[in-house]
Amino acid sequence: MPSPETPLLDNALADLPSSSPQRNLLMLYVHVPFCHSKCTFCDWVQAIPTKDLLRKPEDSVRQNYITALRKEIEIRGAGHRGAGDIPYVIYWGGGTASSLDEREAAAVMDALRSSFDLSGVAEATIECSPDTVDEKKLRFFRGLGFNRVSSGVQSFDNTRLRRLGRRHTAEQAVRVVHAAREAGFEDVSIDLMSGFPDQDADELARSVDQALELPVNHLSLYSFRPTPGTFMRRRMDVAERRTYLRRQQLLFTQARRTIHDSGLTEYANGYFGKVSPFAAMYFQLRADTVGLGSGAISLVDQQFQSHMKGLLHAYVTNPLGFDIDVPAGQDRVLVSLLQAGLAMFDGIPRQDWTYRTGTDLTEVLTRPAIAPLADFLRGRGLIEDDHGIRLPRRRAGLTLIELAFEMAMSQPELV
Ligand SMILES: C[S@@+](CC[C@H](N)C(=O)[O-])C[C@H]1O[C@@H](n2cnc3c(N)ncnc32)[C@H](O)[C@@H]1O
Ligand code: SF4
Repeated sequence: MPSPETPLLDNALADLPSSSPQRNLLMLYVHVPFCHSKCTFCDWVQAIPTKDLLRKPEDSVRQNYITALRKEIEIRGAGHRGAGDIPYVIYWGGGTASSLDEREAAAVMDALRSSFDLSGVAEATIECSPDTVDEKKLRFFRGLGFNRVSSGVQSFDNTRLRRLGRRHTAEQAVRVVHAAREAGFEDVSIDLMSGFPDQDADELARSVDQALELPVNHLSLYSFRPTPGTFMRRRMDVAERRTYLRRQQLLFTQARRTIHDSGLTEYANGYFGKVSPFAAMYFQLRADTVGLGSGAISLVDQQFQSHMKGLLHAYVTNPLGFDIDVPAGQDRVLVSLLQAGLAMFDGIPRQDWTYRTGTDLTEVLTRPAIAPLADFLRGRGLIEDDHGIRLPRRRAGLTLIELAFEMAMSQPELV
């Protein structure tokens, strides 16, 4: 029986497909492990040696990476095509996907096109950082087949951007949003971050106000995860962790109210605006995730596979060898899937969960390694019904911020 607490599936989500035994959907994720700088907060690249992260297109290691990536795409693509799997969303992330030059990007897209049947793709997103694109390059990406741009801005405060190690200004970030619209992208999203240890509410409010003046139809607001290995985490005073967390929660709550009042509806924790099929496919496990490239993870046929981040050279040597290859039903995998899935306000549908992981949600929540997490979530009002599990909308954000913050802080700092 559905609980009266939250209406299930708002219309945009209800219209999105799920996989079925007759039609297995795919989300194709391409990982680009290169950037123009290593930002002080970033926990996507902290494991990548800086020398590798900053490699340029003319560097032979990077050229070999593109060749290896094409090989992985071609071989895995042939398998999925043979099985009749249907790509529904494409997402190029990283690192900085837009740091690929036109030749590299065309080579990778060409491999995707010749290896998968892309005729059913509803959304193709490229992640950009503002220092790597201009209108010309964005037009090129549009012509390549992308229909959505997600630009990492983080803040519109130039002092903050410098402290974050960003290589662009607020003015550049604004220009890129307009350039994306000029280049023909109707779907433009930006990432903002909140809850840096030394950030106050006024600073964040000014950034949010600036973001809301832009022609974007999606905004992601991420609370800083103090992951070990990031420069910013090293500067934090562990004794102050409760203070940091309370401030994060306060800042997020204030920013969320402003964004909501502007007319962008929050459909998942920190995701506002037009529902992205990518979020539903990935978080709600409606599709198998085929992660391509060093640092990418896959969830395919109830198996969790990963090319670990930072192992660029091993990947180049053997792009088909996974560093982790375990059943999706393993406790650690399930914990990360639970955390991701609960970000969607519609939560995790039982049917998709079972189809993707081969496990039963009710049984999973009783496992000794997962029961403490289940208790924590029930203490925050977790709703469990026939449809699946979800957090009450009004408590989901703060609960997930607390969970991500505490999980990151409980890991020891790297030496
Ligand atoms: C994979 S990153 C790529 C973004 C792109 N390279 C750029 O810099 O604009 C995607 C997003 O993750 C978010 N992010 C990175 N590190 C984070 C952290 N430690 N906590 C929360 N969000 C983080 C940022 O908002 C970033 O834009
Ligand atoms: S935020 Fe973007 S540019 Fe900065 S290190 Fe992370 S992935 Fe690279």
